[in-house]
Amino acid sequence: MESKRVAAEKAVEYIRDGMVVGLGTGSTAYWAIQKLGKKIKGGLSIKAVATSINSENLAKELGIPLISISEAEEMDITIDGADEVDNEWNLIKGGGGALLREKIVASFSKELIIVVDESKKVSRLGKYPLPVEIVKFGHELTQKKLGKLGCIPKLRVVDNNPFITDNGNYIIDCDFGSIDQPKDLHSVINMIPGVVDNGLFIKIATKVIVGYRDGSILEL
Ligand code: A5P
Repeated sequence: MESKRVAAEKAVEYIRDGMVVGLGTGSTAYWAIQKLGKKIKGGLSIKAVATSINSENLAKELGIPLISISEAEEMDITIDGADEVDNEWNLIKGGGGALLREKIVASFSKELIIVVDESKKVSRLGKYPLPVEIVKFGHELTQKKLGKLGCIPKLRVVDNNPFITDNGNYIIDCDFGSIDQPKDLHSVINMIPGVVDNGLFIKIATKVIVGYRDGSILEL
């Protein structure tokens, strides 16, 4: 999709020789990885850390040099998508199920550039169901606890089977309708035993690039 591509490709312009780059996950980050692959063929020299097995495989196909997160220490720039971005740059992420690795990589990145199409910009988070990664053990009970926070919690299912994350966990998609206090909700959810992490990214983005259908972009 044009709007995703233009935003993602703009972000790649910030990558310089010698950087360690975090590769996001999803259909917008895909375009950033593609562009990065082309730049590497053109002589750019970087090392990359992937936030999912999918992005790792794509990077390998494109000849992008990969290192593990343990070898990286920190990323200079990470480019990733989001499911929603509010006016304070709080995010909902995890629509593709990669939220945990994405958050670890983002939290060790000097810069986190979020690339989205115009539909993802919202004044308040929560219309998009919040993905929460939970361990399998006792998942029905963890799901019930999440529901007590005022959402409709649904186990993510793909082809009639629970979706399994790259870390071997389940995802509960929590439909809150509207999230008034994202920072507080982030903490409350992560206090529930069985929860590994949730898709709220609180004030961690350092730049947001929005792409539009007509091919224009807005850098925030
Ligand atoms: C992956 O788990 C997600 O956090 C994605 O970054 C997010 O869902 C955005 O995906 P798209 O770019 O495919 O919309």
